[in-house]
Amino acid sequence: MTRAWTWSYEGYDPDTERLRETLCTLGNGYFATRGAASEALDGPVHYPGTYAAGCYNRLLSTVAGRSVENEDMVNLPNWLPLRYRICPADAAPGPWLSPDHPHLTEHRQTLDLSHGTLTRWSVYEDEAGRRLTVEQCRLVHMGEPHLAALRTCFASDGWTGAVEVEAGIDGAVRNAGVARYHGLADQHLTGWETGAEQPDTVWLSCRTLDSDIRIALASRIRTPSGHDGPPRPQVTALRASHTLILPLTPDAPAVVEKTVALYTSRDPAIESPRHAAVDAVALAPHFRRLRAEHRRAWENLWRQAKLEVPGEAGRILRLHLFHVLQTLSPHTAELDVGVPARGLHGEAYRGHVFWDELFVLPFLNLHLPQVSLALLDYRYRRLPAACHAAREAGRTGAMYPWQSAGDGREETQQLHLNPRSGHWLPDHSRLQHHVGSAIAYNVWQYGQASGDTEFLHTRGAEMLLEIARFWASAVDWDASLGRYRIRGVVGPDEYHDGYPDAAAPGVDDNAYTNVTAAWVLRRALDLCHTLPEPHQRQLFERIQLSPEEPERWDDIAHRLHVPYHRGVISQFAGYEDLAELDWHGYRQRYGDIRRLDRILEAEGDTVNRYQASKQADVLMLGYLFAPSELASLFRGLGYPLDEDTWHATVDYYLHRTSHGSTLSALVHAWVLARVHRPDAWTYCQEALTGDVADVQGGTTAEGIHLGAMAGTLDFVQRGMTGLETREQALWLDPAPLRELSKFGVRIRYRRHWDVDLRIRADQVRIAVPASENAPVRVNLRDRSFALAPGTSRRLSLPGG
Ligand code: BGC
Repeated sequence: MTRAWTWSYEGYDPDTERLRETLCTLGNGYFATRGAASEALDGPVHYPGTYAAGCYNRLLSTVAGRSVENEDMVNLPNWLPLRYRICPADAAPGPWLSPDHPHLTEHRQTLDLSHGTLTRWSVYEDEAGRRLTVEQCRLVHMGEPHLAALRTCFASDGWTGAVEVEAGIDGAVRNAGVARYHGLADQHLTGWETGAEQPDTVWLSCRTLDSDIRIALASRIRTPSGHDGPPRPQVTALRASHTLILPLTPDAPAVVEKTVALYTSRDPAIESPRHAAVDAVALAPHFRRLRAEHRRAWENLWRQAKLEVPGEAGRILRLHLFHVLQTLSPHTAELDVGVPARGLHGEAYRGHVFWDELFVLPFLNLHLPQVSLALLDYRYRRLPAACHAAREAGRTGAMYPWQSAGDGREETQQLHLNPRSGHWLPDHSRLQHHVGSAIAYNVWQYGQASGDTEFLHTRGAEMLLEIARFWASAVDWDASLGRYRIRGVVGPDEYHDGYPDAAAPGVDDNAYTNVTAAWVLRRALDLCHTLPEPHQRQLFERIQLSPEEPERWDDIAHRLHVPYHRGVISQFAGYEDLAELDWHGYRQRYGDIRRLDRILEAEGDTVNRYQASKQADVLMLGYLFAPSELASLFRGLGYPLDEDTWHATVDYYLHRTSHGSTLSALVHAWVLARVHRPDAWTYCQEALTGDVADVQGGTTAEGIHLGAMAGTLDFVQRGMTGLETREQALWLDPAPLRELSKFGVRIRYRRHWDVDLRIRADQVRIAVPASENAPVRVNLRDRSFALAPGTSRRLSLPGG
């Protein structure tokens, strides 16, 4: 194992244990388990969460005198428990050991990214000087998505006796992983049943309280090194385990293999989760074979998602890719799930699906398009819910929820806690209707990258047209401006959820919202004009599109209002009237001011009063659209957008953004790199270290930031290469950073599986693998050529 492919922690550190647990999570898209110690069940240090994609439950809580409803991704029974103690031949058994026990003398854990295993290595020494070395290897199977396994090897250093092992499944779990949610109801499971099936197998089943999802886990224990007497099952109301005694001599280590299966009633082709889980462990091979098959599955996956970046940046990017693939794997293509903002790695944001897929799908489109398709189908299945929400709001079309989970209704919390002040505050982030444009953008991008017209001309077009319809119903005509306006929204910057002292929440004419709405309307019109028959007729009938609608869309797409002030694009109408914040003073007083909203609220003030943004908002436009497309969008709206205006806009917001979201640094890195600014690298570094160094101060312990992780991969793949897939061609416009000027990516473009792209500061090489497919059309700045399969081309980059 080279350092480039591993992620290691030396020593045991209770203070950072939860962060390590998140970053050492193992998963396969179907489920994931945090990298928690197997030996410790309770306590403030450890949080052994296990989450199955799409497994949600709704609970009612009372906070601040109000009854609120929240739907959470459920923490499932813990399959990790495996503890042990030394049983000397001539003395009573010692204490149960765990990294928290004072007998621990050494500890190390290593995540092997290439093969998807976590190895924990600990040494204990008791008062009598008996040393026990424990090496535990864990996997969550990438090939068999219901299986996980734990192989624990005990070695004695010079003493003879035994170790007693207790291993099982713990059903006494709650959703308690996020301190801010501690005032809320957290018991999602009920109806536990436990049992022992074979001499070596125990099981535990339960169900979620409201969504009524049945869940079952089975655990099989085998001891290749032999044991004293058979494993003894112990079954209580909430736990099912085995205890066994493993003889140990200095020459013969003892080994115990625990194999676990997890099923839920959402799974196809099963009779019941319990039978499926018990049968699966009965049929599972021994650990070594299981691991060999698991490794093969990972090797295949890495082949499909190749990204070669040298040095430390490359190592972090590999970790990001690892976690993206563990959250959204080929198994995801079989599920009805969206992109959980915090992975399957923790409970922050309740496993909800936001607009973050905007940062994830563009990467997946060029590697695992079938996964992108499944994620878009998650949205398509919830199109009726989005249309219902629009009707309820007095609109037409599809109003997708800002936070989505089980059935596609709006899941944004009504109240959120400011941990600084202890106040529960109204949450207006549901006014971020721009999420609809993100879905439309992803539909379009997926269609362009994959060439999947079957989807684009049917389900994709239906979503896109319904989102366009929503925007058309959301505008007001302002005769004095001679423009359409969209009022009462929240843009990507969540700090501005209203005007100071205004009675109603929301701001008007958020530039990002309006420009992306115009883009959606344009794409909808493109589709209306180009959909082939019979798709066009069927779709128009299905959504009952009247001939006047596209005409109106066209008008709106050309006359939406975009506010400007002092020569820059305004984040929203009236942004310039807000007060300037004393950034320097606040930094001096508080140090880290990323969560300025909380600081100001705790001071009795509100961030709504200031020109201070949480994250990139206007600048998101430079993230989504290449400079030429953005300029053409603005031209279409009747506004000039020359380079100077864009550069001035970038500068303006750069100095007024606190980066309270991990997405912010990423977008800034992207945008600054495109305008060739040296500070791009600073933001790139912040985006790269967002999770590994827990830049947002404690949030990674509650789950990874999947959007930022995937976004950094895409930063290399599309940001640095200027790669676009449009008009049936690959467009390249490399803008490598000095610090990131040499890299390679291998993408899947339509039918071509392994298109290889290599960038050096001053040249680009593109190779298309041999196949029967048609040549790939490539446009590199002003050069355009077709690359036949089996050929490559090296081109120099002027000014590189
Ligand atoms: C950001 C949103 C993001 C959400 C989930 C928030 O902090 O402001 O843009 O969608 O986190 O990642």
